[in-house]
Amino acid sequence: TNRTFTMIKPDAVANGHIGNILAMITNAGFKIVSLKLTQLTVADAKAFYAVHAERPFYGELVKFMSSGPIVAAILEKENAVADFRTLIGATNPAEAAEGTIRKLYATSMGENAVHGSDSDENAMIESNFHFAGREQF
Ligand code: GTP
Ligand code: MG
Repeated sequence: TNRTFTMIKPDAVANGHIGNILAMITNAGFKIVSLKLTQLTVADAKAFYAVHAERPFYGELVKFMSSGPIVAAILEKENAVADFRTLIGATNPAEAAEGTIRKLYATSMGENAVHGSDSDENAMIESNFHFAGREQF
């Protein structure tokens, strides 16, 4: 598809970066087709990141992702999944390229400012996790 799903994570929301990150996203050619400020419960975060359940950082990740408000969004652009992962940069901000969202706004491997779907299939699953069909314009 030509869509991907993103979250502005609790660290970036708390640090006041919502506006700047949304500006970077739209300036890079992504159209916002769904958008909301929301918060994950512990159960929501566990379910969203279930694929990482066996990883050593799962508990920390679930605690962090449910710790405060996030911005959830669906984005549209040709080649959306891959182009968005280029825009956000490497998982570890120390390895993120100059000019990427994580290079600018992430503070650590765990608190890394933004999420981006890693496949078309997961973009669809994650979008439907957060947004009803009537909210997906
Ligand atoms: P997402 O877009 O958030 O899915 O990040 P990613 O695809 O770049 O990384 P991955 O899916 O491998 O990991 C998911 C999230 O788990 C990362 O974004 C980090 O927030 C967190 N994470 C990954 N590795 C570590 C780690 O070693 N320590 C901690 N604390 N968190 C980690
Ligand atoms: Mg991932």
